[in-house]
Amino acid sequence: MSKCTLPDDTIRPKRLADFIGQDDLRANLDVFIRAARENGRPLDHTLFYGNPGLGKTTLARIMSSELGVNLVSTSGPVLERSGDLAAILTNLEEGDILFIDEIHRMPATVEEVLYPAMEDFQIDLVIGSGPGARTVKIDLAPFTLVGATTRLGLLTSPLRDRFGCVFRIDFYTPEELGRIVQRAARILDVEVSEEGAFTIGKRSRGTPRIANRLLRRVRDYAHVHGNGDIDMDLAEMALDRLDVDPYGLDYMDRKILHLMIENFAGGPVGVKTLAAACSEEVRTIEDIYEPYLIQCGFLKRTPRGRVATPKAYKHLKMRIEDGDQRNLLNDF
Ligand SMILES: Nc1ncnc2c1ncn2[C@@H]1O[C@H](COP(=O)(O)OP(=O)(O)OP(=O)(O)O)[C@@H](O)[C@H]1O
Ligand SMILES: [Mg+2]
Repeated sequence: MSKCTLPDDTIRPKRLADFIGQDDLRANLDVFIRAARENGRPLDHTLFYGNPGLGKTTLARIMSSELGVNLVSTSGPVLERSGDLAAILTNLEEGDILFIDEIHRMPATVEEVLYPAMEDFQIDLVIGSGPGARTVKIDLAPFTLVGATTRLGLLTSPLRDRFGCVFRIDFYTPEELGRIVQRAARILDVEVSEEGAFTIGKRSRGTPRIANRLLRRVRDYAHVHGNGDIDMDLAEMALDRLDVDPYGLDYMDRKILHLMIENFAGGPVGVKTLAAACSEEVRTIEDIYEPYLIQCGFLKRTPRGRVATPKAYKHLKMRIEDGDQRNLLNDF
């Protein structure tokens, strides 16, 4: 396979030592993994939550390779019936990791199968139907459930409470993303200077997946318009051309802010109205765009809806009169 078409999996860190950033999380996970390995017992059930592309799936895989156990992966929406989950659980071997992605999207009936499985390594199976139906308890091999979610708030509390370790994954700093870019560049065999990597990192919305994607695009640009190497000037030029601004905002981020200011007087505007105005799904706005706009201080959530902040006006070079001063005075 040519190096240009390496799949994402090649870049994904396989060991905890290769996982960059999230220092506290990494240190804690390291302790739990070592303890489990030394005591020869399965790790506690672990939940990772955070925005898309921050490393939840990567961490689940790292856990399985650090512990030398199988990783069985599934996801909430795929588990339609309780039998689907029961079949997976009864096939697990001792110490295996069951990874359930988007765990908040698991149907309630399936979730109920998980409670005794997590707590007592048992499930109740109903055999037969009608008056002759009976319930049998089936013992499971002790396993570790690793759940991932972008929406901790949508998890029911009985499920959340059954996780022994709950880890929040935050946005990464530009320095950390710069290191992630340098590591990916080494794997992709691309020359990138420290400043070039930092420039890409700074515009990656705090997200490793985006940093890796931008690196590939800038690399293509360096290949066609330069000698293939990436320095700061080339990275800046390429990212400008890719319409990624110095804050990492892309076309859609800016469209959201523009719409809020021009059509809704800077807000407050409800997320459904905003989504309809941008022709986007509410979930996409809430999961992908909004968290980073809030993190940058361009958007604020208020009880009456979303509001564009003065910083957003400044960044878009729009005047306060472009919105409605009354709303802003009410909210700040
Ligand atoms: N800490 C890190 N260090 C280096 N690379 C990372 C790190 N975290 C994530 N990545 C890279 O970012 C990519 C996306 O990460 P991952 O698939 O784990 O995100 P996710 O949180 O599971 O996202 P989603 O919510 O969309 O499933 C990975 O392929 C990996 O290469
Ligand atoms: Mg994932």
